[in-house]
Parts: sequence; C-alpha cells; structure tokens
Amino acid sequence: MKVLVTGGLGFIGANFVRFLSRARPAWKIVNLDKQTYAGNPANLAGLKVLTIKKDICDAKAVDAAMKGCDYVVHFAAETHVDRSILDAGAFLKTNILGTQVLLDAALRHKATRFLHVSTDEVYGSIPKGYSKEGDHLEPNSPYAASKAASDLLVRSYFVTHKAPVLTTRASNNYGPYQYPEKALPLMITNFMEDKPFPQYGDGKQVRDWLHVRDHARAILTVLEKGALGEVYNIGGSYTCQNRELIQKVLKLMKKPNGLVTRVEDRKGHDRRYALDCSKLKRLGFKHEYDFERGLAQTISWYINNEAWWRPLKVAGGYRAYVKKAYKK
Ligand code: NAD
Ligand code: TYD
Repeated sequence: MKVLVTGGLGFIGANFVRFLSRARPAWKIVNLDKQTYAGNPANLAGLKVLTIKKDICDAKAVDAAMKGCDYVVHFAAETHVDRSILDAGAFLKTNILGTQVLLDAALRHKATRFLHVSTDEVYGSIPKGYSKEGDHLEPNSPYAASKAASDLLVRSYFVTHKAPVLTTRASNNYGPYQYPEKALPLMITNFMEDKPFPQYGDGKQVRDWLHVRDHARAILTVLEKGALGEVYNIGGSYTCQNRELIQKVLKLMKKPNGLVTRVEDRKGHDRRYALDCSKLKRLGFKHEYDFERGLAQTISWYINNEAWWRPLKVAGGYRAYVKKAYKK
C-alpha cells in the first residue's frame, strides 16, 4: 500500500505520519509539503519518509507525487484564522485550488481512496447542541470559507466523477508539534516565559478539544472503514470556554491566575463549536485520551521540547506576524 500524505510537515500531518508508520509499518508513505512557515522538517525527525518539497497547486509536481499511490490523505492547508483575517489570498489558493489539483491527479492515477481533512469551522458557530454532518455550512472566517469551499468541491467530484472521496471534519486539535501561533501552544510557551496569554474578548468562546493522536487514529478508521462520499465529524467530546482552559493551564503549570491580558476580540469570532460524533463511533472508533491527561501530557511535551519551539518563536517572520496581529 502506498499513501500520499499532503502537509505532513505540519502539526496534524506529522502526528498522523508518526502514527501511521507505527500502525501500518508495511505501508509506503510519501509526503508532499511546500514547507511554509508552518511546515517543519523537525516534526518528522527520525522517520524514514520521503518528503517532496512542492506546492499542492503545482499540477506537475502533484502528478509526479501521485504516481502509484493507492490512498491520499490531504492535510496541506493554510490553517490560522487570524492570518486569514489579515490576508485571505493564500487560503483561497492552497485550500481550494490545491484541493482541486489533488483531486484531478487522484482521478487520473486511479487512487482508490482520497481522504480530505476538514474542520468543524465550516458549520459556523453553534449556540447550543452539536453540529451533525448534514447541517448547513455557515463559515464565518475566510479560513473556514476556504475549507467549506474545498469540502463542496470534494463532494462535487464524488457526484460528478464518482471520485472515491471521504471528508473528515475535526474540532480543535491539541498535542505535540503544534506551531505556537495557535491558542494552546501560545499559552503554554508564554506561561513558561511568565508572559501573559492574550485572551480575545470575554474568553467565553467554547471550543471542542481533540487530542491529535485520537485524530490520527480516527482518520485511519475513516480511511479504512468509511463509506465513500460520506462526511465524518471527529470531535474530542470535551468542550470548555477559553477562560476555563486558561485557568486549567495556569493551575497545571503552577502559575499565577492573573497571567492573562484581555485584548480586542477577533473579528467575526465564532462563539461555540461542538461536534456530534455518533457517525464516527458507529465505525467502531473510541477516544483514548481524556482531556485532563492529554492536556497535562501536552504541557510536559512543550516543557521538555523547548529546543523545538524556541527557534520558531524568535524567528523574524513569527515576530512580525505577532506584531501585526496583536497591534491593538
Ligand atoms: P499546519 O498549519 O500545522 O500545517 C499545514 C501544513 O501544510 C504545513 O506543513 C505546510 O507547510 C503545508 N502546506 C501549506 N500550504 C501548502 C501548499 N500550498 N502546498 C503544500 N503544502 C502546504 O496545519 P494543521 O493544524 O496540521 O492542519 C492540518 C489540516 O487539518 C488542515 O487541512 C486543517 O484545515 C485541518 N484541521 C486542523 C485543525 C486544528 O485544530 N489544527 C482542526 C480541524 C481541521
Ligand atoms: P485557535 O487556536 O486560533 O483555534 P480556532 O480559532 O481555530 O478555534 O484559537 C482557539 C480559541 O482561542 C479561539 O476561540 C480563539 C482564542 N484565542 C485567543 O483568545 N487568543 C489568542 O491569542 C489566540 C491565538 C486564540
């Protein structure tokens, strides 16, 4: 079995490649990744995986990478909501056009399964209850809109071309190797430096937290057992407000509970995400991580791997982004 993974140098892609190389050691993995600011070869250190450093929008490179691949697991994307608010261009190119280039190549090369990794953000904010796979898509950020567009494109290839596609929509992931612009690694690494976490607005926004290794296992479950053309939610079954999460992390790290600065709220900030995962559970999937244990382990990982995140936070590009994004 040969699998093409896109975005394997990123947070979830790298955790998936690490998991897959243990779970299916006979499978050959090829990783196609442009290595943007979020792609880091250190995330796959120690693994024997061929990484092709190319853009998923480059049809020739995608065609070459796709040769002989049975399965495709598509993670590559621009992923940070705040960056999409500052500049949406790269989001539309990579997340929509890149997905189209991959779908066309997968059809040409007769890949037998194409799993498109998407997000709960395509449903938009849900004040109560849980989003189900058949719900309307109401994306509110340019990032979410670009992912919703790619989901619809994947759906259209199933109907039009009978492409063998599957779509997963996951909630907020946490765990090792997450780039420190996202809330949780930013929080942990700031607290390690006794710096405050910038809480957007009142901090009452709710997120559904999923351990990245549970996400990786769920993706393999859907890849092997999912019905073609279907969408599967992958939530973490643990929701909380951001302000509760901040207090939990402060307590676990034994830091003073005032280490928070309230900053201007994100534009169009979704108040609540929560996923119904009964369809995934019907494939036999069970979570391995409970949030308390997963969070404590994640904090330990960042404490023990300062050599991984420190260079990312001092890089010029990161500092310039932080200055622009948090200027108010
Ligand atoms: P990430 O930002 O950590 O990594 C993205 C990876 O894609 C990087 O390695 C980057 O180099 C690569 N990439 C970006 N543009 C590319 C291009 N044009 N060509 C080739 N490679 C390119 O992202 P992540 O958090 O690991 O997310 C992976 C996927 O999971 C995304 O599709 C995202 O929408 C989805 N997702 C993420 C979360 C989350 O909580 N992080 C939740 C649900 C869904
Ligand atoms: P994030 O990790 O960016 O994920 P998403 O926006 O995709 O859910 O943010 C998680 C939550 O934390 C979200 O409600 C926004 C909030 N947040 C802050 O309050 N401050 C920050 O500096 C960041 C990056 C996020």
